[in-house]
Amino acid sequence: MSAFAGAQERLNAIPSLDLWAPPSPVHELPRLRDALGGGPRLLIKRDDAIPFGFGGNKVRKVAIVAAHAIAEGADTLLSVGGVQSNSARVVAAVAARMGLHCVLVANGAPPERLAANALLDSLLGAEVHYVPSRDDRAPAMARIAADLRRQGRRPFEIPLGASTSLGALGFVRAVGEIVNQAIIPDVIVHSTSSGGTQAGLVAGCAIYDLPTRVLGISADDPAASIRGTVEAVISGMSAWLDVDGDALAAARPIEIDDTYVGGGYGIMSPASREAADLLARREAIFVDHTYTAKALAGLLGHLRRGSFSPTQTVLFWHTGGQVGLFA
Ligand SMILES: Cc1ncc(COP(=O)(O)O)c(C=O)c1O
Repeated sequence: MSAFAGAQERLNAIPSLDLWAPPSPVHELPRLRDALGGGPRLLIKRDDAIPFGFGGNKVRKVAIVAAHAIAEGADTLLSVGGVQSNSARVVAAVAARMGLHCVLVANGAPPERLAANALLDSLLGAEVHYVPSRDDRAPAMARIAADLRRQGRRPFEIPLGASTSLGALGFVRAVGEIVNQAIIPDVIVHSTSSGGTQAGLVAGCAIYDLPTRVLGISADDPAASIRGTVEAVISGMSAWLDVDGDALAAARPIEIDDTYVGGGYGIMSPASREAADLLARREAIFVDHTYTAKALAGLLGHLRRGSFSPTQTVLFWHTGGQVGLFA
């Protein structure tokens, strides 16, 4: 029995919006495995196929954070991200579905032609404010929230990627979801950036007492910086799950490989381009340039180097983002 077993019950009691019917599918990748000349059993978890608002990992996080916002009486959801943020698009979609106003703060120039996530944000009715740099986003969101409060509105601020301890519980739940699907992989490989997905997966493996290794492939930041965030997000789960947060954060290794970032955030590398082509041509599954192609390049790199044994089951957690292909 898990040292954190009581947490499962508390987790189940945390409200979440009913936006879609889990589970997302899990299936084999037989033609990709053949292309690699065999090796471990390869599975994929299809969060790209979550049907709400073009799906992706953010739906799991925002469903919980927005349920909390609504319980607090919010009438407006605010969030931040790049112009092509998947997370911001999901916040806009949730706001539309729940009848709330949405304000997004995006770093970058207003696009001349709306495409991909920026187009969806507009279709969803979100009000988008543009700021010059990443560092300007959080202060701008705080300013807009203060203005709205002065007007008698009830804004709720959702930080970057909805990667709060509450949001990350969406991925603790997702571990329970694969347990119910009777899938206990030896290794999970996924894209990591703002840390919420990894925090949820790592904490989930401890809470559900799985022997699974979780390997995050960085989309941008150095491993040490993401690791610090993941630890902090897991520790903060104590407020929601009534567990020793530091013990939960220390229960499993937080493994991050930052060697697949290439030229930087959102810039394709030869390895990520090859990975994206291979998955599309072998399995008709699409990965995005910024996150999932780099994670897949990491998976292929580790498989080719023989990092995993042929008797193991390796699950690639597809975190979505395919809208970005149309930017
Ligand atoms: C498609 C996609 N995959 C992975 C990630 C990384 O997840 P996280 O921010 O929870 O680390 C993000 C967002 O940052 C994303 O949009």
